[in-house]
Amino acid sequence: MRTVIYPGSFDPLTNGHLDVIQRAARLFDRVVVAVARNESKQPLFSPAERKTLIEQSTTDLPNVSVDLFEGLLVEYVEQQSGHAVIRGLRALSDFENEFQMALMNRQLNEHIETLFMMPRASYSFLSSHLVKEISGLGGDVSPFVTPEVKEALAAKLGQACVN
Ligand code: PNS
Repeated sequence: MRTVIYPGSFDPLTNGHLDVIQRAARLFDRVVVAVARNESKQPLFSPAERKTLIEQSTTDLPNVSVDLFEGLLVEYVEQQSGHAVIRGLRALSDFENEFQMALMNRQLNEHIETLFMMPRASYSFLSSHLVKEISGLGGDVSPFVTPEVKEALAAKLGQACVN
């Protein structure tokens, strides 16, 4: 049973993340999407909300589960008996930070490999940050997120405007 961990903030899940999850689910027996709780960034969605949105968007993928994690990623991967970490690479601009994280994680635990997967080219410009900005300004985010995420964004950003 080969297990891979796909960690991230997922604030919120985009179709680019989903594309990586689908590709990983075809390669591994078990994919755990691990939502980071301990972020320095101020997320729009709570960890539980982000987890629920991913679960709702991956119901057709039986070997994918979603979990929350805090602390060191390499420790979480060991707890899950994971063999590798997957990270999406959209463009060269992602590379430097990802390279640094992958080598640091290897330094912390040399048995855990980091694999990079490229989402579909049409998602290479996509980011959670831009999706939140577009939705907050009333733009249509349907091409970039699942219907569940679109609805959650409208509810959250709509509320934020009223308050
Ligand atoms: O989606 P993001 O924000 O790029 O995800 C970054 C994340 C959560 C994968 C990264 O910050 C992480 O692994 N955090 C856990 C703490 C940790 O292990 N830090 C050392 C990384 S070298």
